[in-house]
Amino acid sequence: MIHASAPAKIILSGDHSVVYGAPALVAAISPRVKVTLQELPEPIVRLHADGQHAEMSIPDCLELQAELDELHDDFMEGEISVHDVLESGSELFFYALSQWLQPDARKGVELWMDSPIPIGCGLGSSAATIAAVCCAAGKFFGEPLEDLQSLVAQVRFIERLQHGRGSALDASAVVFGGVVHLADTLTEQAPLDNNWWVVHTGKPASSTGECVAAVREKYEDSPIWQRFSEVTNRFQAAMTAGDEPALAQAIKDNQRLLEELGLVPERVQSFVRRIEIAGGAAKICGAGCIVGEGAGAVLVRGVDPTTLAEEAGYGCQPIIGDRHGVRLEPA
Ligand code: MEV
Repeated sequence: MIHASAPAKIILSGDHSVVYGAPALVAAISPRVKVTLQELPEPIVRLHADGQHAEMSIPDCLELQAELDELHDDFMEGEISVHDVLESGSELFFYALSQWLQPDARKGVELWMDSPIPIGCGLGSSAATIAAVCCAAGKFFGEPLEDLQSLVAQVRFIERLQHGRGSALDASAVVFGGVVHLADTLTEQAPLDNNWWVVHTGKPASSTGECVAAVREKYEDSPIWQRFSEVTNRFQAAMTAGDEPALAQAIKDNQRLLEELGLVPERVQSFVRRIEIAGGAAKICGAGCIVGEGAGAVLVRGVDPTTLAEEAGYGCQPIIGDRHGVRLEPA
C-alpha cells in the first residue's frame, strides 16, 4: 500500500490577478488530505471517497481520459462552458490515475481518499487531493515525477478540467508547503504566524472555473491587474517587515479590488466591514462567487472574529500553517 498526504491552502493575496501574471502569496495550512493506493488483481480502477464508491475498467478509464481531453479542448475553443467538462468529482480522480494506466494492464488499482478540507470553499481541496493522488501514483506505478515543479505542472494540468484557465497558485501551495511567493519565480517565505483566522461564509453557488471565466470576460485587458500587483507587493513587504498597519491596509485594499470585480456578495461585504470596525482586516480567499450569498473562505487578521462570525451564522477557526507540501507517508 502507498500513502500520501497534502495540505489545504489559503490565498493571502493575488486571487484572480495571478491568472493575469500578477504576483501572489499563498500559504499551505492544516488540515491535510490523505490518500492510499493499493493493487487490485483485476484491471479495474476503484475509488472510495466521502463514503461514495465508484469503479471503472482500465479501458473505460482511458476512454474517459480521451473524452475529457476533448471536452476541455471544446471549452478552450469557446464551444462549451467549463462547467460542462466534468460530470462528477470522481471523474477528476479517474482522469488523474489514467495518466499512469496502460491499456493492456492486467492488474488494477484501488484509491481511498480521506479529505477533511471542505470542498469548493477556497481552501484548495481539489489541488490537495490531486497532488496527493499524483504523489502516491508516481510511487505506486514506479514512475515518480523528477521534481516538485513537474508535480505542480501535472496537478495544474489535471485541475484544468475543473478550473479552466487557472493559475499555478493552488498547485504550488499544496506541492511546496509553507508560504509561497509566486512572482517571476517562486520563493519560499517565512512561515505563517498565529494571527490569522478563516471564516466560512458558505459554499459559493458558482465554481472557481465559472468565476475565473466571468472575470476574464469583463476584465481580461483591464488596468485593474496593475493595482492588484501593487497591493500584493505591499502585502508581501509588510509581512516581511512585520508592519501590522501596512499589512491591514493591504488586506483591505485587496478586498476592495475583489469587490470591484463583483466577486463578493453584499452579506459578506457587510461582514468584512464589521471586522474592520472591530479593528481587524479581512478579505475573501479564492475565487469568491458571482451568484448567491456564500463566498467561501474569508481571511481575517488583527481581531479574533469568533463572536462576529457567530452573529453572522458563519463558522470560524484559527489558521494553522503547514510547512510541508505533498509527501509520501509511512504505512
Ligand atoms: C482559486 O483558488 C484562485 C483563483 O486565483 C484562480 C487561480 O488562481 O487559478 C481565483
